[in-house]
Amino acid sequence: MPESSIWIEKHRPKKFEDIIGQDGIVRRIHAFIKDKNLPHLLFSGPAGCGKTSLILVAAKELYGENWKENVMETNASMDRGIQIVREQIKDFARTRPIGNVPFKICILDEADALTRDAQQALRRVMEQYSSICRFCLIANYSSRIIDPIQSRCTIFRFKSLEAKDLNKIIEKIMKDEKLKIDEKAKDALVYIADGDVRRMENVMQSCSMINKKISEDSVYEIVSAARPREVKEILELAIDGKFPQAKEKLLEVMLKHGLSGLDIIKQIQSEIWNLKISDERKVELVDKCGEVEFRMVEGSDEYLQLESLIANFMRNDKKS
Ligand SMILES: Nc1ncnc2c1ncn2[C@@H]1O[C@H](COP(=O)(O)OP(=O)(O)O)[C@@H](O)[C@H]1O
Ligand SMILES: [Mg+2]
Repeated sequence: MPESSIWIEKHRPKKFEDIIGQDGIVRRIHAFIKDKNLPHLLFSGPAGCGKTSLILVAAKELYGENWKENVMETNASMDRGIQIVREQIKDFARTRPIGNVPFKICILDEADALTRDAQQALRRVMEQYSSICRFCLIANYSSRIIDPIQSRCTIFRFKSLEAKDLNKIIEKIMKDEKLKIDEKAKDALVYIADGDVRRMENVMQSCSMINKKISEDSVYEIVSAARPREVKEILELAIDGKFPQAKEKLLEVMLKHGLSGLDIIKQIQSEIWNLKISDERKVELVDKCGEVEFRMVEGSDEYLQLESLIANFMRNDKKS
């Protein structure tokens, strides 16, 4: 597939205005770029919320046509060692920029995958060449970056996108790709995205290859997930003490959508928050889900584990 036919690339924001949500962050980075003066940056936050997109927009704005010569993009998780810092990164950082901006930009994706030694080496490179190279470190968790690096960076914490923002993106792609998506299907896309635009766009593209008209069912089929209301129904049956019916429904839903125990447990976990039970109970049950998930990963019988989980919903609710 050529690059542009992959939607996450084709629909990657090209200008600051294209980046949805993250308003405060976009405004501040835009201001730096207008001044042609960028500090070292640390972007933290969940997957698919616009971190890479924002730094690329900033770089293109800053350098114009020369952007590729002045920007290095590397992914630290592919080569976690100190070698990448000593060789590739250092080589890039120490050569002068091309054009009239006095510095280059080194984007280091998944910087939290770098070992501590590699991070120490990186800190020295940052210090040594800071006049001609600015770093943009991207990490899921800023806490995994050593303090001396954190203190050299301006930190921006990205948030996963809210439903209203995801809906804006759905509308835009729907128009560009000439899709038909009804309200239920939009809700389904927002649900399975769980804040991650990359995931959402990939699902939209997969659905569109089957049919330009995207339905709720096609969304859940692509990601092999149960409808949220089906999961809720199972849990409500259990809470009402209808254990045999809850078990039966669980099996039915799993078979119908071809779900593994691990697939459904994630859905159960997120549906717990929508149940009409006390907050303490919710926390207890979410905790229980974690335990059951762990046992499944360890290899114990998935269906038995799920049954015991469902029994928990019932037993405990009767007490309260
Ligand atoms: N805030 C956003 N606004 C618009 N599109 C977004 C946003 N975040 C992500 N996307 C879409 O998802 C794709 C992946 O986003 P990316 O910036 O690489 O995420 P991250 O680096 O945070 O994991 C982008 O190409 C774009 O199509
Ligand atoms: Mg990224």
